[in-house]
Amino acid sequence: MPIFICTQSGSKESVIFVAETARDELVGYVYATIETQPDDLISIPYLSINEIAVKRASQGMGIGKSLLQRAERWAIEKGITVIQLATWEFNQPALRFFKNSGYRTIMRKMEKVLRDEM
Ligand SMILES: CC(C)(COP(=O)(O)OP(=O)(O)OC[C@H]1O[C@@H](n2cnc3c(N)ncnc32)[C@H](O)[C@@H]1OP(=O)(O)O)[C@@H](O)C(=O)NCCC(=O)NCCS
Repeated sequence: MPIFICTQSGSKESVIFVAETARDELVGYVYATIETQPDDLISIPYLSINEIAVKRASQGMGIGKSLLQRAERWAIEKGITVIQLATWEFNQPALRFFKNSGYRTIMRKMEKVLRDEM
């Protein structure tokens, strides 16, 4: 499964790696940016994985893992040693995928809907 750099431009340094079949069919991509804004809790710079997705029919075949590893390699090439991403709590398959890939939860965003209590 070849993976190509698609673009790398803009004010923030960013990258998109895409996964294509031998027939040039796009089956997945990862979009990441280098974040440099200071934050008390986050060491900078870090790579933010903003989006990663694999076509449903191609999931579970190692493509997501390859894309994530490619983005991680890109970070290392840039001298970046921290990667962050956010995912919805209901997205249990993605949570398992990231955990499996060595990511751990460092913060939880919580909410309470008050509608029913009014
Ligand atoms: C999450 C996603 C990117 C994973 O890509 P994928 O190509 O299906 O995953 P892979 O086949 O590369 O799997 C890599 C590893 O994660 C595991 N894994 C993948 N999906 C899993 C699941 N649903 N449950 C448990 N483990 C899973 C695999 O078993 C594999 O483990 P291994 O390294 O021990 O072999 C893909 O399922 C997807 O596009 N989901 C919809 C979009 C999405 O939720 N994106 C993330 C939003 S932040």
